[in-house]
Amino acid sequence: MTTRLRIAVQKSGRLSERSLQIIRDCGIRFGSDSRLLKEEAENFPLEFLYLRDDDIPRYVNDGVADIGIVGRNEYDEQDLPLEIIRDLGFSKCRLSVAVPIDFVYTGLASLAGKRIATSYPNILRKKLAEAQIEARIYEISGSVEITPSIGVADAICDLVSTGATLASNGLREVEAIYHSTAVMIGHQGLSQEKRLILERLLLRIDAVLRADDFKYIMFNVPKKHLDKVAAIIGGITSPTVTPLLDATWVAVQTVVREAQFWDVLEQLKTLGAQGILVTAIEKMAD
Ligand code: PRP
Ligand code: ZN
Repeated sequence: MTTRLRIAVQKSGRLSERSLQIIRDCGIRFGSDSRLLKEEAENFPLEFLYLRDDDIPRYVNDGVADIGIVGRNEYDEQDLPLEIIRDLGFSKCRLSVAVPIDFVYTGLASLAGKRIATSYPNILRKKLAEAQIEARIYEISGSVEITPSIGVADAICDLVSTGATLASNGLREVEAIYHSTAVMIGHQGLSQEKRLILERLLLRIDAVLRADDFKYIMFNVPKKHLDKVAAIIGGITSPTVTPLLDATWVAVQTVVREAQFWDVLEQLKTLGAQGILVTAIEKMAD
């Protein structure tokens, strides 16, 4: 029997689509039939377990799954001896305190003596302890946002992404106490065989994640400005420079960081760059 690395991903919810997309972008084929609980990849020794996100850290800790993709919030809340293998960067959200519209909030001190409903008692407790605030934490596993309106809590502490859930429940976000993104977590005692599969998978995932951070650009520029161009684009690798029919011009191809892209573009324009083409990069390996 071939050894397969078992990855736990969220069955349905905020994380599921991007989690599976990243793996697909790695060239790994699978059906992702959401009715299934378990599925094998067709062309890579990987097996998927589709689970509730809250359960993923525990399954990885118990060794039922080898690795998993969850929000950092679940990882920190459950505080199990797991390893964060990669920050995947997507599914950004925050854990925030929210109060009914008429609640007068001037800072965490306003929560002293209040009842706060949350699914993240550990993260909240830590934050309140740091601020030396005593409040009553009311732990609840779901539908936290309705607790103030039914008189169970004075405030809540819940995940916020777009803010739509809070707004539709007449709540106001007053303080973000924690920020989260999707992370890949892993079991610390993986067999040598599984470690090797994980390394192969990470090589691909890193190439996919890295590609998102860069753009590929091509342009023509007067040859006399080549030194200045090189200084502007810096570079991961030395740019490719090709002569043009008009010997006073050259064509340049290189990779630039997405974050610096607009700056670079403006500076290239001032040096007379023309015919600037920009494309997304699908994969980028070291
Ligand atoms: C969180 C949170 C809210 C919602 C907020 O749930 O509990 O219900 O997302 O998102 P919004 O600000 O975009 O409206 P989550 O996705 O973690 O689902 P779960 O509680 O079922 O795991
Ligand atoms: Zn959840």
